Amino acid sequence: MKAFEIKKNVYWVGAIAWELAEFHGYLTQRGSTFNAYLILDEKITLVDTVKATHKDQMFARIKSIIDPAKIDIVISNHTEMDHSGAIPDVMDLCKNATLICSPHGETGLNKHYDTSKWNFKVVQMHDTVNIGKRDLSFILMPMVHWPDSMATYVKQDKLLMPNDLFGQHMATYERFVNDAEFDIVMEEAQKYFANILLPYSRQSTNAVSEIVKLDLDMIAPSHGLIWRDKDVQKIFKAYELWDANAVKDKAVIVYDTMWGSTEKMANSVYRAFEKLDIPVKLKSLKKYHISDIMTDILDSKYICVGSPTLNNTLMPTVASFLYYLKGLRPKNRIALAFGSFGWGGQSVKEIEEIFKFLNFEILDTVTYEYVPHEEDLDKIEKDLEDELK
Ligand SMILES: Cc1cc2nc3c(=O)[nH]c(=O)nc-3n(C[C@H](O)[C@H](O)[C@H](O)COP(=O)(O)O)c2cc1C
Repeated sequence: MKAFEIKKNVYWVGAIAWELAEFHGYLTQRGSTFNAYLILDEKITLVDTVKATHKDQMFARIKSIIDPAKIDIVISNHTEMDHSGAIPDVMDLCKNATLICSPHGETGLNKHYDTSKWNFKVVQMHDTVNIGKRDLSFILMPMVHWPDSMATYVKQDKLLMPNDLFGQHMATYERFVNDAEFDIVMEEAQKYFANILLPYSRQSTNAVSEIVKLDLDMIAPSHGLIWRDKDVQKIFKAYELWDANAVKDKAVIVYDTMWGSTEKMANSVYRAFEKLDIPVKLKSLKKYHISDIMTDILDSKYICVGSPTLNNTLMPTVASFLYYLKGLRPKNRIALAFGSFGWGGQSVKEIEEIFKFLNFEILDTVTYEYVPHEEDLDKIEKDLEDELK
């Protein structure tokens, strides 16, 4: 296991989790990395660590360049255990090390670990710590995406380590975005934003507005690949749109079905968008995972959700999707509820309750008693087409 030099005397010493399948319900089909960075200066500084399960990888990479016991400073940009998980081992090994974190970082670390022997240095917004040839400064980013979140900036290296901000879940041999397949990295960055940062787009906007003022040519997040040179501006541009909930004229249809009627209706809805040349995707919840659907939802103007009525309510798959959507809080959308029913027909009302909570503009509900026939499906298509025109 080797360390990888990303700037003169600044090394990536993280872990590649090729096997990682999911993160609290977010599918990571491409695996991920836990990125830790080691700065060799008068004070040897470790920025973030890795998940405890992957600590051997981190220590092996550190050992390829220095004795880990020589670390003087550990920075915890974010308390979540995929980044702080190996801090207890480092602090145990480096008894005199200083642990730098935000005020909420200190509270959070105290609630996760036995910190009684740790030397904390709590930093505030824009505080600076000199480590020799370098000055490290800190940008506090509350709720991007935990209260403790902060970014570490190294002025002399034009380097920002913003932890989860600008991250992507991808296990790769390459470390830089421009050595990997750009479209795939952007897709994973979009999925990351949609599933993790979307509810905090206001706070993310504030954080990014501070970050764009910095003199930067490299952003090294805590997951996935490192943005450098021209790619820095590309991810800024993407975040500007995602933070603003900017939508494209496109639609996503999300549904489940027991006997096929709601699926037939979903196809009618699909044809209405197709007729109007509005790009549309059809996502059966039997096939697509909610965390992948969110990637498409992020920049889609139209969100259509279909469920038959089952036991006076929604199908549980649709309820699960809607509760996930409710938590992630996309804004500025136009929404359609549809579904087949037998007698009560409660499903569409429950879909619309969530749409109302999210302040979506709601299109005319589409329901059908039991099995719709060709002429009914044509009418659903025509009515929606007329409404969308
Ligand atoms: C187990 C089961 C429970 C159902 N419960 C309800 C219900 O509570 N209220 C209702 O209106 N219809 C109920 N239905 C009828 C379905 O909503 C109806 O068959 C509908 O056409 C199914 O749509 P689908 O083909 O998209 O699954 C139920 C059907 C099944 C199989």
